Amino acid sequence: MAHLFTPFTVGSLALKNRIVMAPMCQYSVTAKDGKPNDWHYTHYTSRAIGGAGLVIIEMTDVEPDGRISDFDLGLWSDDHIAPFARIVDACHGYGAKIGVQIAHAGRKAEDAATPVAPSAIAFEGPQYKLPRELSTDEVKRMVERFGQAAKRAVAAGFDTIELHGAHGYLIHQFQSPVTNRRSDEYGQDLARFGVEVIQAVKSEMPSDMPLLIRVSAVEYVDGGYGIDHAIELCRRYREAGVDVVHVSSGGEGRPGKRKPGNYPGYQVPFARQIKEALGVPVIAVGMLDEYALAESVVASGDADLVAIGRGLLRDPYWPIHAAQALGVELNVPKQYARAF
Ligand SMILES: Cc1cc2nc3c(=O)[nH]c(=O)nc-3n(C[C@H](O)[C@H](O)[C@H](O)COP(=O)(O)O)c2cc1C
Repeated sequence: MAHLFTPFTVGSLALKNRIVMAPMCQYSVTAKDGKPNDWHYTHYTSRAIGGAGLVIIEMTDVEPDGRISDFDLGLWSDDHIAPFARIVDACHGYGAKIGVQIAHAGRKAEDAATPVAPSAIAFEGPQYKLPRELSTDEVKRMVERFGQAAKRAVAAGFDTIELHGAHGYLIHQFQSPVTNRRSDEYGQDLARFGVEVIQAVKSEMPSDMPLLIRVSAVEYVDGGYGIDHAIELCRRYREAGVDVVHVSSGGEGRPGKRKPGNYPGYQVPFARQIKEALGVPVIAVGMLDEYALAESVVASGDADLVAIGRGLLRDPYWPIHAAQALGVELNVPKQYARAF
C-alpha cells in the first residue's frame, strides 16, 4: 500500500487519500459577480472524479475590492452560497472532500480603484496601485468580513476552510515586517490580524471542522522574514485554532539575494520544519507531481498531505495515474474502468 493512498483524518475531515488539489485562481468569473459558474463546476468536479482526496477551491475573496482581478471568486454575500453549494454537492458525489480558500488580496488587488493594505506601500510592478492604509476600525471590520465569509462557506457545505496567509496577500501583508509598518496593535504584533481572523472564522465553523492556513514559510525580498518568524507565526495561529498548516513560500515581492529553489520538492523542508517545531499536521506543495516524489514526501513523514497544483491542471486524473505508477489497486470511476 502506497502511503499516498492511505486515509487521513483531522477533526471531522476524513480524506480517502493524501492528495490535495492546490487552490488555483481560474480568473473565470466572466459575470464579475464573484459567483462560480459552469467553468468552476466542471473544473473542480473533474478533479473529484479524477480521485483527489481534498479539493481546495481557489482564492475566494471576502469583499469585491479584495479580489486580485474582477474575474475572481467571492463569498461577500449570501447570494454566493448556492453556486458554491452546487460544486460542493457534486464533489461529494464523487467521493472527494472539498474546502475553499478564503482571502483578501490587499495591496495586490489589481482592479480595485484604491486597494487597501496594512501600510501604504505599493507592490512593485506597473499594474499595482499605491494602497491606502486601513484604519484600526477598518481592520476590525475586515476581521468580521472573514468571519462572515466563513459562515457562508459552512452554509454551502464545505468540509474545511483554508485561510490564505501566503503569497503576499492581505494576511501575509500583516505578518511581514516589510509590508506592515503600522504603529497600532496590528503593527506592534505582526501575528495579531491573522490570530483575530482565525478566531472569527473558527467561531463560525462547527467545533470539529478543521481550519487550514496557507503560509509563506520564508520571504525572498531583501529584509523579508525567514523560517523562524514563520514558525512563531504558526505557533500563534495554532494556539488561535488552526489545525493544519499548508506550507508554501514567497510571493511578497521580487526576490532579492535569497531565491526560491524552483526544483522538485523545494518547499518540503519548510513543511518538515514547521511540522517538527509545532507538531501540527502539514500540507507540502510545490513541484511535487512526480509520483515517486509525492509518495516519498508522505512516506518519510515530511508532510501529512501533498498538494498538487499544475500537475492537476495538466491531468485531472493525476491521482489515478499516481496509483497506477505506485502499483496501488485502482479506484477508477466505473464509466472509465475500461480505459485503465
Ligand atoms: C494558475 C495558478 C493559480 C494559482 N492560484 C492560487 C491561489 O488561488 N491560491 C494559492 O494559495 N496559490 C495559488 N497558486 C499556487 C498553487 O496553489 C501552488 O502552490 C503552486 O502552483 C505550486 O504547486 P505546483 O508546483 O504543484 O503547481 C496558483 C498557481 C497556479 C499555477
